[in-house]
Amino acid sequence: MGVMREFNRDQLGFIERLRLDYGDVVWTRFLYVPAIFLYHPDDIEYVLTTNPKNFIKSMSLRSNFFQRLVGKGLLTSQGDEWKRQRRLSQPAFHRERVASYANVMVDYTERLISKWQEGETRDTHPDMMRLTLEIVVQCLFSADVSSDVDDVGATLKELVKPFAAQATLKWILNNRLPTPAHFRFHALAKKIDNVVYRIIAERRASGRDEGDLLSMLLAARDEDGSQMTDRQLRDEVMTLFLAGHETTALTMAWSWYLLGTHPESERKFHAELDEVLGDRKPTAADLPRLKFTEQIAKESMRLYPPAYGLGREAIDDCEIGGYQVPKGTQVFMFQWATQRDPRFYDEPQAFRPERWTEDFIERLPKYAYFPFGGGPRVCIGASFAMMEIILCLATIGQKVRLELVPDHPVSIYPAMSLRPKDGIKVVVRNRTPSAYAV
Ligand code: HEM
Repeated sequence: MGVMREFNRDQLGFIERLRLDYGDVVWTRFLYVPAIFLYHPDDIEYVLTTNPKNFIKSMSLRSNFFQRLVGKGLLTSQGDEWKRQRRLSQPAFHRERVASYANVMVDYTERLISKWQEGETRDTHPDMMRLTLEIVVQCLFSADVSSDVDDVGATLKELVKPFAAQATLKWILNNRLPTPAHFRFHALAKKIDNVVYRIIAERRASGRDEGDLLSMLLAARDEDGSQMTDRQLRDEVMTLFLAGHETTALTMAWSWYLLGTHPESERKFHAELDEVLGDRKPTAADLPRLKFTEQIAKESMRLYPPAYGLGREAIDDCEIGGYQVPKGTQVFMFQWATQRDPRFYDEPQAFRPERWTEDFIERLPKYAYFPFGGGPRVCIGASFAMMEIILCLATIGQKVRLELVPDHPVSIYPAMSLRPKDGIKVVVRNRTPSAYAV
């Protein structure tokens, strides 16, 4: 079995123990699949930016599970196919374009909190998931999924379950076992397909150019003049559904948890909002002044990186960190471990947003912090995500305090992303800027 049992029993603990026991480069095996775990920023840099051509996405991302979910979308495609799709999608993520999404982000957040009542108990995880799904679909596809959002959210939650329990066995066996879970997975995937295909069909039928990503993808032509099929479009839309909402939602949910457990940081956060915004709506122009809010987002992604590990496969023999790595080896790098490494961070387990000064960032080895990955396959939505997190945190923090429910247990459930196992329950407390101004 190699290390499979131990890994599946306690992924995060296992990842950390390997580094402590064996150092920066650890050779291991899942069933018959050789794998190497890299912990040092220099080795991570080698894989992601120095020699990225020697690596494709790992076996887990190429498995049937992932193929069924996102097909040959941007996250999973390779080579020329990936290059073309990346080039096509890039304009939707250019700086000015991203700034134009700010209003949608703030408006949808205001709409969400307008339904909250003082003293009400809420779970921030599904709340943030619903919010970010609505935002990404509105910004990139000009579609309102408010009526489907609960259904899509619940389905996605179920869908990623196979990635947690016994995950490694499933990707190695490539989902060939005809288990009830297998059939359930396919039925759920079909449910989301229906929503995605509906969005595509509506746009094709209207023939309108909304100037958004969906219009650009619909208009794109291959060299031979052919257009993207519904299936190709589905893969891209689904990829952005998946990659573009849960990660940001998790960063916000963990930020509320961290603020709830660190009253001094929460006070500073509110003070910044009162000073920069008062009771005015935040805009993209406020971002440079919402410094502490940005530091909260960064520190939250350091401690609870939504994507807590990255995987590649070596396509040719190479040398990493002084070790020979044969082709076919799975190469794993873990934000979870490297971003908590005491060689790079003082008090690595502590939530200290203030550590993110310009000076600190300059001194930090590049890949000691890589929540968005790096190199050519770096997250295309990184600036979209940063803006969304800051604006949504600010819009909510302006109006309410989210007080943690004291006896609610908060623990981590690593399933493709770092989720709070039983959610993060909070009580809503209204606040008025002046009452908290310092
Ligand atoms: C806090 C929020 C986010 C985090 C932590 C995050 C993290 C990542 C990481 C680590 C990768 C690289 C995966 C790899 O190298 O194997 C990635 C890729 C990607 N992300 Fe994000 N992401 C976030 C938000 C978003 C958003 C908002 C979008 C879109 C709206 C998005 C779309 C994508 C896409 C399409 C890729 C594949 C890019 C490519 O391979 O060309 N992500 N993301």
